[in-house]
Amino acid sequence: MIKNVLVALLSATAIACSADAAAAPSSDSNPQRPIVIAHRGASGYLPEHTLEAKALAYAMRPDYIEQDLVLSKDNHLIVMHDIYLDNTTDVAEVFPGRARDDGHYYTIDFTLAELKQLNVTETFVAGPQGPVAKYPNRFPLWKSSFQLSTLAEEIELIQGLNRTLGYDIGIYPEIKKPHFHHREGRDIATLTLTKLKQYGYTGREQKIYLQSFDAEELQRIKRELMPRLDMDLPLIQLIAITAWGEKQLEVDGKLSNYDYDWMLEPGGLERIATYADGIGPWLGMLAQVKEGQLHTTGLAQRARQHQLQVHPYTFRADPSELPPEVESFERLLHIAVERIGIDGLFTDHPDKALSYLSRNNPQ
Ligand code: G3P
Ligand code: CA
Repeated sequence: MIKNVLVALLSATAIACSADAAAAPSSDSNPQRPIVIAHRGASGYLPEHTLEAKALAYAMRPDYIEQDLVLSKDNHLIVMHDIYLDNTTDVAEVFPGRARDDGHYYTIDFTLAELKQLNVTETFVAGPQGPVAKYPNRFPLWKSSFQLSTLAEEIELIQGLNRTLGYDIGIYPEIKKPHFHHREGRDIATLTLTKLKQYGYTGREQKIYLQSFDAEELQRIKRELMPRLDMDLPLIQLIAITAWGEKQLEVDGKLSNYDYDWMLEPGGLERIATYADGIGPWLGMLAQVKEGQLHTTGLAQRARQHQLQVHPYTFRADPSELPPEVESFERLLHIAVERIGIDGLFTDHPDKALSYLSRNNPQ
């Protein structure tokens, strides 16, 4: 719901931007070509986070391919977005009775061998007559055959293709819900760093960013874990709307939402710059409309003053995902690239973003 409200805000932004399309370029614009991050792979075309979606993304030649990470029962790093298996797999049919009391099937309650028994499909949601595809025009539900995979399997795919095709496409892992994993007695950050180091990602000379919505865990990574492991990876602080409940803290036995507001308040970016190399804001945080006119919020500009890169999420070309008044995905990209001046973007449709950038940022 809150995301929908913010999408509406962005819609209004786009109307105003359309109106001033002939205006002089914004002083916010970034002269460098923004990097393209394949969000969950080529997830606009194949089920997210499958190896097939990653191979297709690779063929589109983005700069980076994203991996969201959660832990299995036996401490394997599984590439998937949610801590639940509910909305992308057939877990309820394969393992009936394995849900927790809250009704969710948690990935952390299943071994890798069990997870490999599951079929993966496009994301679905509950509908009046049963599950329906979240994005109706994407790859059809339950067609073909897809599996969950580990971070190691995905890195081996990308590094293998880098070798056979000769490109240098990077990885962009996200440690999902470290606070949840800590409550389960697990240290997903240390396991992630150890695996990355095993595959040669130790410093800034390798093509990698490491991202998280968890500010305290990123600081722990920067100040404790990476020095201990002799690593120095660039870190991206993702920024959420507090009400999304992206991070929840236990207070007096109850879970309450972590307050993200400090990140956007005076001093917030300065604080982030002490441990991170960039921010990953929701796109709607970068521009607002006042009295019918587009105003960038200044967040991107302020971030650059602190030498923070700006990699917003998530650019989706599905007509259902475009704000109603935006006539095309290209218009959305124009707003972000020319008006806001982003340094990179997470997109489900890397081919379309790359096509736009090749025509509009020829360098
Ligand atoms: O990591 C950037 C973007 O992916 C954050 O949103 O929820 O898709 O992981 P989410
Ligand atoms: Ca992510």
